[in-house]
Amino acid sequence: MNLLDGKATSLQIKKELALAVKQRKMEGKKIPHLAAVLVGNDGGSLTYVNAKVKACEECGFESTLIRYDESVSEDLLLKKVEALNNDPSIDGFIVQLPLPSHIDEMKVTQAIDPNKDVDGFHPENIGKMVLNLPGFLSATPAGILELLKRNKIQTAGKNCVIIGRSNIVGTPLSIMLTRNTDPGNCTVTLTHSMTQNLKEVCLTADILVAAIGQPNFVTKDMVKPGAVVIDVGTTRVEDDTKKAGWRLVGDVKFDEVAEVTSYISPVPGGVGPMTIASLMINTLKAMELNNK
Ligand code: GUN
Repeated sequence: MNLLDGKATSLQIKKELALAVKQRKMEGKKIPHLAAVLVGNDGGSLTYVNAKVKACEECGFESTLIRYDESVSEDLLLKKVEALNNDPSIDGFIVQLPLPSHIDEMKVTQAIDPNKDVDGFHPENIGKMVLNLPGFLSATPAGILELLKRNKIQTAGKNCVIIGRSNIVGTPLSIMLTRNTDPGNCTVTLTHSMTQNLKEVCLTADILVAAIGQPNFVTKDMVKPGAVVIDVGTTRVEDDTKKAGWRLVGDVKFDEVAEVTSYISPVPGGVGPMTIASLMINTLKAMELNNK
């Protein structure tokens, strides 16, 4: 078994980005500026947003964190999105999801200027991804592709099974791995809650991706010997032995599954840091796209 070390891979990417920023600075050019909007106090979202701000520091980017109370109105949030769209100092921005139930997430996502949509969630960017046109790729699936690429894992012609069809991971990843790109050219099966014989389907996978948010869902009997396993799960479970009182648990029962795999990504330290690295790549791209 080989570890797909997302932490080490993302560190390498951040170093490369920091170098690019240093070069830009020497040339007197603008440095990338990412803004993040966070609504409410959800612990998970706060951790992710703080990690994104920290990654900006590591890459030499500027960052701005905008926080609102849980009770913020949809109207006020949409006005902020509009202001960020029109602020030339901001190259790209994200609105951390999920949003409270009184706010229409799709409305907010669609209000973001597609040229600043570094999360790649806007329908225009999703459409461009499907057609293989230049645009922003969703950060988590793009991070998974980068993790495969930098670890020299061949994907062409491989059977890939994805568990979970979310808008931000499973669905875009199924498209990205199907396209005629490298990584890509997989035969993809996108499974979900109505899939029959899931275990048998998973056993056909050369590359198995678990993205359902159910701790320890994938067990050894679901994995073909020698498969590559990618774990996108990040569920917080109570753990009194940890200072924080919780630990992150993936969708894959790591210890037993690792025994049969050729490569496996851990949680934490796998896909999570790669998502953040992708966001940084997209932010630099946003700045270049807008010719700054
Ligand atoms: N919530 C979970 N993952 C993400 C992400 O990649 N971006 C945003 N904006 N919200 C998320």
